[in-house]
Amino acid sequence: RVIVVDFGAQYGQLIARRVRDLHVYSEIVPCDITADEVRAMAPAAIIFSGGPASVYADDAPSIDPEILELGIPVLGFCYGQQIMAVTLGGEVGHTEKGEYGPAPLTRCGESALFADTPGEQTVWMSHRDAVSRVPEGFTVTSSTDVCPVASMECAERRLYATQFHPEVRHTAFGNELLANFLFGICGLVPDWTMDSIIEDSVAAIREKVGEDRVILGLSGGVDSSVVAALGARAIGRQLVCVFVDHGLLRKGEPEEVEAVFTEQFDVDFIRVDARERYLELLAGVSDPEEKRRIIGTQFWKEFFAVAQQLDGVKYLAQGTIYPDIIESGARKTGGKASTIKSHHNLIPFPEGVSFELIEPLDHFFKDEVRALGTALGLPDHIVHRQPFPGPGLAIRIIGDVDAEKLEVLKSADAIVREELDAYNERLFQETGVRDSERSVWQYFAVLPDIRSVGVMGDERTYARPIILRAVESQDAMTADWARLPYELIARVSSRVVAEVPGVNRVVYDVTSKPPATVEWE
Ligand code: XMP
Repeated sequence: RVIVVDFGAQYGQLIARRVRDLHVYSEIVPCDITADEVRAMAPAAIIFSGGPASVYADDAPSIDPEILELGIPVLGFCYGQQIMAVTLGGEVGHTEKGEYGPAPLTRCGESALFADTPGEQTVWMSHRDAVSRVPEGFTVTSSTDVCPVASMECAERRLYATQFHPEVRHTAFGNELLANFLFGICGLVPDWTMDSIIEDSVAAIREKVGEDRVILGLSGGVDSSVVAALGARAIGRQLVCVFVDHGLLRKGEPEEVEAVFTEQFDVDFIRVDARERYLELLAGVSDPEEKRRIIGTQFWKEFFAVAQQLDGVKYLAQGTIYPDIIESGARKTGGKASTIKSHHNLIPFPEGVSFELIEPLDHFFKDEVRALGTALGLPDHIVHRQPFPGPGLAIRIIGDVDAEKLEVLKSADAIVREELDAYNERLFQETGVRDSERSVWQYFAVLPDIRSVGVMGDERTYARPIILRAVESQDAMTADWARLPYELIARVSSRVVAEVPGVNRVVYDVTSKPPATVEWE
């Protein structure tokens, strides 16, 4: 494996992704890792990420100098080059104007890192500091107008570094440089493929679980479904999937989940019909946070009620993914990734109940999880399911929830999805891109707590409106309302009003996030 030493949150993730895209397994480690810890991990190569700090700032992250003496090849980017330089006795200074964005780079001399790439190439720069004197034994292998040391190396010790960012797509030959390092310099083999991932994961689950049983809360979402599919492959009916049907999923979803995990995958599937209980608990409750709390608490009650009746269950499987681990660690340690898993504290085990956790996806990024799902044979509608809030439709009904409102929202939402699914599919066919980069990222209907006057036939109506919400986003942190074609909005509007009793109006939400949020509650 390759380890990516992270000097500043997002940088490490992007590099790890690029390495994995080249079919080499990579993992992110915090920059306070010691040489002994690195030795114990025995990586085949090390990459130092960029980072936001200046190497001379008081609180600038440093690196255990011995890491550079382990004989393991190291490649540093940006801050990673600067930290390598100062640690080995070189110097870093301010450039006069900094350098941001694409920059023309000129190579000098021979370098295995740049093998088979042109003498002049465009790279992505983002820095004010830069190496002003390379450490002893190093040579300069490229420069730009602003930056005399755009890259440096000591080939004898297999230490390489660039001031620019090869992990950024705008660096024309970034991927080639990374491949030259991994395959040419480090001699790695690109064997981290979907087949090998599945094989390894299945073996690891079998080894850990043995003859015991594992319980999993199946929500219908991507992560828990992939855990279930993987579990089915590894341990079959030793895996008990508990699907708590709270009645707040979208139209048809509970049936789809049940069909997939009873007909297609061989697991022990238990559907708990908790619809009435949830409606009773939610009756008269209009505060969104209170709704969330009730729904979350009740899920665990239902789940443990089933769990306590089963014999021989030793493990609780969870669909925790790699960013959850990195982020929960980052929250605890103020920036540096660590292995603390704060989300585990969120499981409210009842008195006297304990399970060991098993988290087969905790080393995968979201789109790797999707690829895994596809490779395991999960249907597209699960693998490419849009983000859907845990509290489900309860937070898309503004105000209190009842059976009638749920029915109205489910029917309207089904039409919204049908029309926008078809539109999105056309966009996908045209662009070939799905998920975070696809054009419409999330779309749904919201039922507000008001009525308005309308006229249908000769009759005056006083009925509900439906709000259409459709957004474009990369990560849900920010979002923009989707510029849907008018004809599409018109078709959704006339269908909803014609087909859903009790609805006489459709409005489109044209607010971005911020200042609004994606959901209405
Ligand atoms: P907001 O509304 O905060 O939503 O802009 C951002 C993303 O998160 C989803 N979301 C939730 N997911 N539990 C969840 O699991 C929740 O309570 C919840 N609230 C919002 C939302 O659908 C969007 O993708």
